[in-house]
Amino acid sequence: MWIRSLIRSTCRSGLHVDQVYMWLSWVRTRWTLLLLFWLGWLGMLLGAVLIILQAPRCRDLPVTSWWNHGPLYQIGSVQAFTDGQDLKGLEQKVDALSQLKVKGVLLGPLHVAPPDEAVSLRFEEISPEVGNLEQFRGFVQTAHRKGISVVLDLTPNYQGTSGPWFSNVSVTNVAERLKSALVFWLDEGVDGVQLSGVERVSTIVPSLWADIRAIVQNGTEQRPDERVLIGTTDRSSVEDVSSLLSSTGVDLLISRVLRPGDPDATERAQSVQRLYSSHSLTRLAWSVGGRTQGHLASLVGPALVKLHQLLLLTLPGTPVFNYGDEVGLMDEDTKFPKMLWDSDDALNETRQEDRDERLSCLSFFRSVSELRGKERSLLFGDFLLLANSSSSMAYLRVWDQSARYLAAFNWAEEATLLQLSDETLPQQAEVVLSTDSSLLPAGGSVELSSLQLGPGQAALLRGTGIRARFRLGPNPSSTIHHPSSIIHHPPPIIHHPPSIIHHPSSIIHHPSSTVHHPPSIIHHPSSTIHHPPSTIHPSSTIHHPPSIIQVLMEQFK
Ligand SMILES: *[C@@H]1O[C@H](CO)[C@@H](O)[C@H](O)[C@H]1NC(C)=O
Ligand SMILES: *[C@@H]1O[C@H](CO)[C@@H](O)[C@H](O)[C@H]1NC(C)=O
Ligand SMILES: *[C@@H]1O[C@H](CO)[C@@H](O)[C@H](O)[C@H]1NC(C)=O
Ligand SMILES: *[C@@H]1O[C@H](CO)[C@@H](O)[C@H](O)[C@H]1NC(C)=O
Repeated sequence: MWIRSLIRSTCRSGLHVDQVYMWLSWVRTRWTLLLLFWLGWLGMLLGAVLIILQAPRCRDLPVTSWWNHGPLYQIGSVQAFTDGQDLKGLEQKVDALSQLKVKGVLLGPLHVAPPDEAVSLRFEEISPEVGNLEQFRGFVQTAHRKGISVVLDLTPNYQGTSGPWFSNVSVTNVAERLKSALVFWLDEGVDGVQLSGVERVSTIVPSLWADIRAIVQNGTEQRPDERVLIGTTDRSSVEDVSSLLSSTGVDLLISRVLRPGDPDATERAQSVQRLYSSHSLTRLAWSVGGRTQGHLASLVGPALVKLHQLLLLTLPGTPVFNYGDEVGLMDEDTKFPKMLWDSDDALNETRQEDRDERLSCLSFFRSVSELRGKERSLLFGDFLLLANSSSSMAYLRVWDQSARYLAAFNWAEEATLLQLSDETLPQQAEVVLSTDSSLLPAGGSVELSSLQLGPGQAALLRGTGIRARFRLGPNPSSTIHHPSSIIHHPPPIIHHPPSIIHHPSSIIHHPSSTVHHPPSIIHHPSSTIHHPPSTIHPSSTIHHPPSIIQVLMEQFK
């Protein structure tokens, strides 16, 4: 109707009828185009929303505390560390500790405790040769200003021979007195307490141990400056250490699981793997040596100092070093040798060489420690063992989208070849650091399928490429093949990761044409899955908890 009247009116205005129809169809086309434009726009908006909804969420950061953020540094003797000085002298060394990115000093014991004399024990009094309370306060203040926390070792009978808590006749009495000492020192601003021989007091006097815990950990959730209760034990078996972690309730347990004399790297790797899989890495501490065992360089030999520095600083948990381990300090006739503070003074030739060696250790330590403080993968990333043999080991540290690190170690006196050739790893990786830069220079590129490590060498690698990521998938190691359990997948089948990862007795061999799926297909839990009849049961991997699939599942939750 309105079109006719429109035509009529336009005719009157002198327009030809054809022109009017043309004009009308142009109007219609314009409306259609406009509609299509908005529909397209809506479609894109919907698409974007869908993509966002489908995209893997960033993993929530774990709850960590200051002692998870950097190495702890044990100073068992103030005089040895400060070259004959007291706590005032220690205050002057805070800058040096800060350069190592140390997050906490494990200091002392400093209290008056004549060996094996429970009656003369005075927890609240600093031994006069170490200094006085005024100096202690000065040190704590300076350390705090540099972001370094102070943990006081209050092991009662630290110089005695009848155990760290005296004989068990007096342990109740001693533990009772320790309680008021804890309140005293926490009021003085210390950030935590360390106690040796936790297994004894926690089992002999469980109620007193509960009180000790309550005092140190009181209100820890509410305060920003959390306090730590660190236990140390001489135990070295994974079972003992694991059960102590559960039963004592300490925040951090320093043990001897990484036995320095242990020649077998497989055992070392399995210990780490087992502790990591049954406890939160925020409660694990890694150390070689210590106040009672001696220094790293004496225990493992000067040639392996850097290797162990890299190991402790990249394992999942808190690294704990003895003073001087950063420069490879050796025990002499005492477990408390004088710290070597290097100056730029001219030295004769042999001493110059020693100093160069110390400075090289020191700069290596600083680099790794600094990197550890910045990289999420190294701070709290998942730990994935890639390979282990009697004298070598390699593992990945992985956190969500962050750069991923691969650490490889060779304890042997001969060179070794690690064959980390797997479709789940990139073919090449970049050397970030290595203990011997003439063999593996930093910044260089290496083939993971033939990673050559020199005698006693260790290296830290990072995935190359723009995204600097290791692509993950099943079976990260292909170094060990069990012919009896080799399974061949027909080409189109996408395997089910949980059934194969980390199963020690089976290696699944894929023809290379079947394995190149985009990561989202391999990793996505909803992808189509076929099990060949011979595939292992998914449940067979359940006691290997830190498996890659879990990491990936996390990311796709
Ligand atoms: C002290 O320990 C020994 C062995 O550890 C035990 O036989 C003894 O009964 C203990 N004494 C007390 C008073 O707990
Ligand atoms: C915990 O702290 C509060 C306030 O500082 C104090 O009243 C309470 O007695 C403490 N509890 C223990 C077990 O020390
Ligand atoms: C260098 O000095 C140290 C200690 O001062 C001494 O023991 C050593 O013999 C000296 N070496 C040479 C080559 O002079
Ligand atoms: C580690 O070594 C053990 C014993 O040789 C072996 O069963 C296991 O598969 C190895 N793990 C990896 C990830 O290579």
